[in-house]
Amino acid sequence: MPASVEIESLRKVFQRRAKRGLLSRRGNGTRTLVAVDGISFSVTAGEVFGLLGPNGAGKTTTIKMLCTLLTPTSGTARVAGHDVVKEATKVRAALGTVMTGERSVYWKLTGRENLAYFAALYRIPSRQARPRIAELLERMELTARANELVEKYSSGMKQRLALARALLAAPPILLLDEPTVGLDPQAARALRELIGSLRHEGRTVLLTTHYMAEADALCDRVAIIDRGRIIALDSPASLKQSLKAKEAIRMEVQGSPNGLEDALRALTTVESVSAKQSDNGSGTCELQVITLGSRGCIGPMIEAVRRTGHEVLHFQVVQPTLEDVFISLTGKSLRE
Ligand SMILES: Nc1ncnc2c1ncn2[C@@H]1O[C@H](COP(=O)(O)OP(=O)(O)O)[C@@H](O)[C@H]1O
Ligand SMILES: [Mg+2]
Repeated sequence: MPASVEIESLRKVFQRRAKRGLLSRRGNGTRTLVAVDGISFSVTAGEVFGLLGPNGAGKTTTIKMLCTLLTPTSGTARVAGHDVVKEATKVRAALGTVMTGERSVYWKLTGRENLAYFAALYRIPSRQARPRIAELLERMELTARANELVEKYSSGMKQRLALARALLAAPPILLLDEPTVGLDPQAARALRELIGSLRHEGRTVLLTTHYMAEADALCDRVAIIDRGRIIALDSPASLKQSLKAKEAIRMEVQGSPNGLEDALRALTTVESVSAKQSDNGSGTCELQVITLGSRGCIGPMIEAVRRTGHEVLHFQVVQPTLEDVFISLTGKSLRE
């Protein structure tokens, strides 16, 4: 299978103007931020490939370089065999893109009008556009609301319309930047099913996400990205398999996370720990621990937590997830 996307030592450095007084101003008063730090990977035709990483990891910057919205600082990227810098027009023609947080459809038009407008923009002859639009509306379950203004749509419907727009010109490759972010669980599930169905028509999908379950459920292969670097790349099953000799433990503990990580890291059987305040407002915190095997270490772990003045409310040994792979590699949780 030929590669649909090939990225080689890709780097993006942003220049930022230093805030006056806060940072010493050297030279021209700018400082640099390395958003993407020399990443390489290729996506095979027909594959659903995920770029999984926390906020700020460099996912969107990578997608923007691929769809020619940003110019790489160095390195190369090819889409359908075309260089993103030298053959930008051909690259754009091979791509359908859905970016996050951007209004990729017009709220003052109906769903159907949006698709007709973009079909004209992409120079799709109207004889072809009409059935194509009807088919996409049907597929995205928007037919019943196709003649309503988009401003009345739910977030899930807007995102499905954005996907329909990206599919209009039947591009071989789709770039989806955090496709389900901000959607309620039901809308996210519906969208995931639609993305999954793209695989069956042989389309190549490169998506980004910070939801490990999404990467796990949808992707043939996942590249885990952190601080602009790829720290692991494999199928979800193989990534989890890499933790086979280890066990993942979840604990719910009374109080704040203070001191918990250090106390647990001091145990020889503990490989990595992430402690987070629960976001349900219960005043508890959640611990995710990777151990070299839970046998014999449960007592000492609970003891170590108690010594910090916390009480263990819940304790569970679980199957490692991609989140545990991330914690094991970086020592922090994906949600940070
Ligand atoms: N236009 C920009 N100018 C300066 N810094 C930027 C710009 N865009 C992104 N960044 C920075 O680059 C890093 C990576 O951002 P981004 O690619 O958006 O990450 P992600 O999509 O994984 O959350 C972040 O530190 C972000 O603040
Ligand atoms: Mg992003």
